[in-house]
Amino acid sequence: MKTQVAIVGAGPAGLLLGHLLRAEGIECVVVERQTGDYVLGRIRAGVLESITVNLMERLGLDARLKAEGLVEEGFNLADGERLIRIDVAGLTGQTVTVYGQTEVTRDLMDAAPERGLPVLYGASDVALHDIESDAPYLTFTHEGRAERLDARFIVGCDGFHGPSRKAIPASVAREYERVYPFGWLGILADVPPCNHELIYANHERGFALASMRSHTRSRYYVDVPLTEKIEDWSDERIWDELAIRLGPDAAANITRGPSIEKSIAPLRSYVFEPMRHGSLLLCGDAAHIVPPTGAKGLNLAASDVHYAAQALTGFFKANDADAIASYAAKALARVWKSERFSWTLTKLMHRFPDDGPFERAMQVAELDYIATSRAAQTSIAENYVGLPV
Ligand code: APR
Ligand code: PHB
Repeated sequence: MKTQVAIVGAGPAGLLLGHLLRAEGIECVVVERQTGDYVLGRIRAGVLESITVNLMERLGLDARLKAEGLVEEGFNLADGERLIRIDVAGLTGQTVTVYGQTEVTRDLMDAAPERGLPVLYGASDVALHDIESDAPYLTFTHEGRAERLDARFIVGCDGFHGPSRKAIPASVAREYERVYPFGWLGILADVPPCNHELIYANHERGFALASMRSHTRSRYYVDVPLTEKIEDWSDERIWDELAIRLGPDAAANITRGPSIEKSIAPLRSYVFEPMRHGSLLLCGDAAHIVPPTGAKGLNLAASDVHYAAQALTGFFKANDADAIASYAAKALARVWKSERFSWTLTKLMHRFPDDGPFERAMQVAELDYIATSRAAQTSIAENYVGLPV
């Protein structure tokens, strides 16, 4: 097989990129290890920045997003009894949209056939070859047959555990990582949200987040030690902990119900440089991970894909080789700013095991400053809605 761009991974990054390239008439093939159902089965975050909404609009794939997404004009930081509302609409003129990442992936997946975007699901043993040449290729097994896909570029959209990042020589690789000493226990339930806007809480017992998927489906999180096992957390225990950590006002509005899904996920900050080596570009979780505190994961993948589509379109349609050369620096500039915001909000809203009275006093002082400063709230707001691309 031969194409112009071979994309590894059919998560949000890979599918979004594939659609953007096809919309420009650029040939591409997406090669995915799992089945489509498996990809859709992953429960992930659900807050979209305008960059993500705008790309779906540009592709004409925003109908469900507009019909079902919840436009949010603010969010809240809770510190014990105090609730600090960040008026993102008033401070930035922008909003965020709550719409499950699974739904974004579903919209992109469903539109692939009619848009001429081939997605090969169930491809195993994907390997990258000759990435330093102008003629890289993939090998993989699909439907029992050994396959080779020749391309001018390969884009690794294969997440944190995929093969693309590992294809870049260690001699040019630079990694930056912070692993957090806790995980997030998440619960999904068909109950109405306790608040119409998100609440991030820093309580003496730990972090909690009240989010939602719709007016009838809620998503909540509490942070737990990494030694915790999900089987030790009954639904009742989770609801009890949420009621304590979110504070009395929110607790009074919590509707309890059976979990549809519950799991514990570790948190890390991670950046890999370079995001391009030869004819291989990296997008999304293949190149970086953020703690979910800032809801940046999917949105960073979207900005990477925006820059990658720009670069590849420049190369194929304007014969602009410099466009490819500038991809990594452009993408990383926004990646690092999102990493900073996610790390900062994680530090502000979580109790770290090694923190003492001084660190807690710093959290209280920062929350006091945010509560009383329009400048501080504006800084948080412009990062939360997404910095310009
Ligand atoms: N071969 C082919 N496909 C692979 C391989 C492989 N060896 N390894 C991983 N993949 C696929 C995965 O099955 C997954 O469908 O690559 C895809 C990567 O998707 P994500 O992990 O969702 O990463 P990305 O598309 O960058 O999305 C980033 O969405 O999933 C969230 O937490 C993620 O918020 C982040 C955002
Ligand atoms: C979610 O709704 O799953 C969610 C929202 C905001 C976050 C993280 C997760 O920061």
